[in-house]
Amino acid sequence: MCGIVAYIGSREAYPILIKGLERLEYRGYDSAGVALLQSEIKVFKKSGKVQELKDYASKYDTSGNIGIGHTRWATHGEPNEVNAHPHFSSDNKIALIHNGIIENYAVLKEELVKRGYEFHSETDTEVLVHLIEEVQKNTKLSLFDAVRVALNEVTGAYAIVVLSEDNPQQLIAARKGSPLVIGMGKDEFFVASDATPIIEYTNNVVYVDDEEVVLIDLKDGLSIKTIANQEKTPYVQELEMKLETLEKGGYEHFMLKEIYEQPRSIYDSMRGRIDSKRGDIYLGGMLEYKNILTQANRIIFTACGTSWHAALVAEYLFEDIARVPVEVEYASEFRYRNPVINQGDVVIAISQSGETADTLAAIELAKQKGATVLGVCNVVGSSIPRATHAGAYTHAGPEIGVASTKAFTAQVTVLTQMALWLGYTKGTINQAKLARYLVELEAIPSKVEEALKTDVEVEKMARIIADSENALYLGRGYNFPVALEGALKLKEISYIHAEGYPAAEMKHGPIALIDENMPVVVLATKNAQYEKMISNIQEVKARKGKVFAIVTKGDVAVKEMADRWIEIPDCPEELSPLISSIPLQLLSYHVALMRGCNVDQPRNLAKSVTVE
Ligand code: AGP
Repeated sequence: MCGIVAYIGSREAYPILIKGLERLEYRGYDSAGVALLQSEIKVFKKSGKVQELKDYASKYDTSGNIGIGHTRWATHGEPNEVNAHPHFSSDNKIALIHNGIIENYAVLKEELVKRGYEFHSETDTEVLVHLIEEVQKNTKLSLFDAVRVALNEVTGAYAIVVLSEDNPQQLIAARKGSPLVIGMGKDEFFVASDATPIIEYTNNVVYVDDEEVVLIDLKDGLSIKTIANQEKTPYVQELEMKLETLEKGGYEHFMLKEIYEQPRSIYDSMRGRIDSKRGDIYLGGMLEYKNILTQANRIIFTACGTSWHAALVAEYLFEDIARVPVEVEYASEFRYRNPVINQGDVVIAISQSGETADTLAAIELAKQKGATVLGVCNVVGSSIPRATHAGAYTHAGPEIGVASTKAFTAQVTVLTQMALWLGYTKGTINQAKLARYLVELEAIPSKVEEALKTDVEVEKMARIIADSENALYLGRGYNFPVALEGALKLKEISYIHAEGYPAAEMKHGPIALIDENMPVVVLATKNAQYEKMISNIQEVKARKGKVFAIVTKGDVAVKEMADRWIEIPDCPEELSPLISSIPLQLLSYHVALMRGCNVDQPRNLAKSVTVE
């Protein structure tokens, strides 16, 4: 996704912009650019990485106290310098950067061309800056109001920042559907797509809401209006995120740091919420909807990617423990298929970033159809928590690696608490059973710590798998969603084509794939279907498949058959995804490294998919 950074204040803007763009690299991009206000606006743009922009700009004067910077993930027009942002008005006096998609840009462009505007790029963004220019020319409005009026003509998603030579004390920002945060410094302001470029300068931020336009004036401070011209009071939040949490903390990659943070992040996702002695769970954000949840005829989970796998675990948990019918929907399908949503249905959206466009759209659809919509999200103040009626934060801390790891286990931990809370509230489990589950849940962080100690063994397993072109991941029951998640981890960072499957499904086709070149990772921990899993392993071995097993510590039977195995601590089946997913995360990490892949920023991927 595109990344936006802007600065206005007393410091030199360029170093802040560049460092901010580097902090946003994880979002995925293919070109970068900055504009700085000197006597006139100076622009530096390069395709490729931020480093190439730095190398290029180093030969020039990059002074100035006001500037805007952008990393572009191409949606319209190929990744090159012409299409890189910022884009300019005809007189080069207005520069604009944009994250999102202007859906009606073709119609707008046609009208602007008729009015004599020349376009230099293939981007939808360039339409915006000429539209603002046209409005200002025809109305003599201030830049702030010209931006607002122009955005009324636009359909689609945008997060923009506008810099103008004629307004040297101002930046204008606006958003709809793409995230934008403003950092409030002392006599200085920062703007960015998320808080990571801002947090080292200030913890005080304002999250811009949809259809809001913001005037940032060095003298007068912040003014916010809706595009319908309604004044809004800026709501300043103090962020808990600390800069050091953003650094890699001594690990080679953010992904490895985040894998190893899981004992802590799982603990944090329970902190202040469970009391195993009294046998109680407190999910503050859900209390107001207690009756709606306990009387729900059905719960529909909607999410994308790894968050969808967490939703699948939730299906097993909620039906097993709280005896409520559950459906799990890919948000990208749910939003278009005109689903039946009845009064009394509860929709729960799951998202790490809180900005996934398909999930946001699914939420809006569910709300339009009358459902109560809750959210399970990791980023405080992001769009999904603000679009849902209530919810629970996962408190996993910033997840920078594109491949989601600690966010997944934090989501599953929160969903487990929700299922237990709902089951106890509905009476499908009694207090004694709840207390036993909570004691087991409190023991999970230390068991994850133990599972992380298998890293050396996992690395040996990775060495055998690293040259494969394909892989199968098999699991049953609670381990089936984990098999899907393990396969996604491997494919998204090592580019091996890996598939997750319910183990029992092998005989319905996939077993035709088994031969000596097919590594089969099996989740064979002690659970209700353990004996069945052994039969599935035998079927694979009979066809010369290589079996890599995740087993419960002390296992005998599977270890006699598997080519390699990893032993993890035992726990109740319902909690097993929190532990069995750990070696699979490590496996994908090591395989990706051995294949020379970019672990934190895998090709073609973005950390937050804010476009459709
Ligand atoms: C997971 O490793 C991927 N990066 C991706 O599938 C991700 O889970 C998906 O895009 C959903 O993102 P979200 O949780 O931020 O909504």
